Amino acid sequence: MFSRARILLAGSRRAKAAQAHFTELGPDDPEVIGAFPHIPDAMLRTARVSWRALAAMMRPQGRRMVARQIARAGLPHLDIPLEGLPSAFDGYKIAFLSDIHAGPYLGSEILKPLFQRVSAEKPDLVVLGGDLVNYDADEAAEVAHSLKYLHAKDGILSVPGNHDHYSGDLRRIIKYLEHGGAQTLLNDATSVVRGREHVNFLGVDDGGAGRFDLARARSRARDSKINILLSHTPDALPLAARAKIDLMLSGHTHGGQIRAPRIRPISTHTKGRYVDGFYRSDRTLAFVGRGVGVVCIPMRAFCPPHAPILVLRRAT
Ligand SMILES: [Fe+2]
Repeated sequence: MFSRARILLAGSRRAKAAQAHFTELGPDDPEVIGAFPHIPDAMLRTARVSWRALAAMMRPQGRRMVARQIARAGLPHLDIPLEGLPSAFDGYKIAFLSDIHAGPYLGSEILKPLFQRVSAEKPDLVVLGGDLVNYDADEAAEVAHSLKYLHAKDGILSVPGNHDHYSGDLRRIIKYLEHGGAQTLLNDATSVVRGREHVNFLGVDDGGAGRFDLARARSRARDSKINILLSHTPDALPLAARAKIDLMLSGHTHGGQIRAPRIRPISTHTKGRYVDGFYRSDRTLAFVGRGVGVVCIPMRAFCPPHAPILVLRRAT
């Protein structure tokens, strides 16, 4: 089992000092609302109906295709240099799995071997970056049942994605995750402790479909030299930079999912601003992952899934 004692949920008393340093925008601020593209409800209803019809037709082939993709998913080790990283965290490994999209094309029989491969990398922490499901909260059961194969010294953290909201029952998804041993940070924060040193992990609700409240997450965090933000959508980067976040981990874009050689990948979600890889705004570094699963069609082209192992390094 995970050593839960190492993760301390930050209390509001300790947060007072951190709050004093940052006047952060609230979720109703126009600047926050304007930062995230929103999909109209009518479009979502149409997408949900079309998706169910397509998935019913393509399920058997789709499952085989996605199984093949995920069996070959890369687990690259990527160094993340951070100034001020406490020495106890030099070499700290975060396995980052986003956009699993469990459902008709992806079930526990596909997740089990992937999670076993990730665990073999001996991560210190696993982060689930949102979009566990497609449009149905019960699809999260496939992930929850597989979490017993996913091991990390400091446990599993999760944040919601837009599709988790589209399910209409985010609470149920969070319950599934809790059952599997994962902690969801919904505009909240936690700290990982190594000896006398610690690093903060802040998690926000999805900016496009949920109630993004970085101010609340900030206020729940302890004072720390290093603050790592988990935000499903990378559109949060300018707001993260404003809040002096050191590192932001995002998914959402699937890296474009369908790409072509020599053509710039398109991510409609973020108006093309973020697709995959590293981005920077002021002192904030962002990593946008291509994710594990797929949406709409069970296909990826020139954009393989991955579950990167992010290795924190003390920058000199
Ligand atoms: Fe997604």
